[in-house]
Amino acid sequence: MDAEVSLRVDGTDHRVTVDTRTTLLDALRERLGNTSPKKGCDHGQCGACTILLEGRRVNSCLALAVAHDGAEIVTAAGLAPDGELHPMQRCFIQYDAFQCGYCTPGQVVSAVAMLREAEAGWPSAVTLDGVAAGDGSRARLDADEIRERMSGNLCRCAAYANIVPAIEELAR
Ligand code: FES
Repeated sequence: MDAEVSLRVDGTDHRVTVDTRTTLLDALRERLGNTSPKKGCDHGQCGACTILLEGRRVNSCLALAVAHDGAEIVTAAGLAPDGELHPMQRCFIQYDAFQCGYCTPGQVVSAVAMLREAEAGWPSAVTLDGVAAGDGSRARLDADEIRERMSGNLCRCAAYANIVPAIEELAR
């Protein structure tokens, strides 16, 4: 069964017809031609497909497009409007925080979201209704915390030794 879905992706409005079983990842890549989020596992285990959905990082391979009609989405490409790189993207380059680069868009999006989460204070709880807000105090963000908070984004080249310092650069 098909359904029409409206999505605002990286600042541009789209209306697209998708099968109701289509994931956001497939809608973005195959219907809208946005190949910034990558398909690694397609099972919510690698983080290559990470996007910002209404400001929160999610694995787009686990989200059905039809369930997010009207949603605001930002991909790694959307972090660099007009080719001006986001500070996190610049840090990844500065620290050579990739090898093959396949996981990098997801890593960068996830890191940007994590810094925002840290700014607000870590969420106090995750409930069926969403994530309870933090207490507003800036959360601690050292290398160990970054590794833990980025553990949903895997790098098969194991570039973690450079990814963590790249994120730390902005977390200071
Ligand atoms: Fe979505 Fe791996 S492709 S988590």
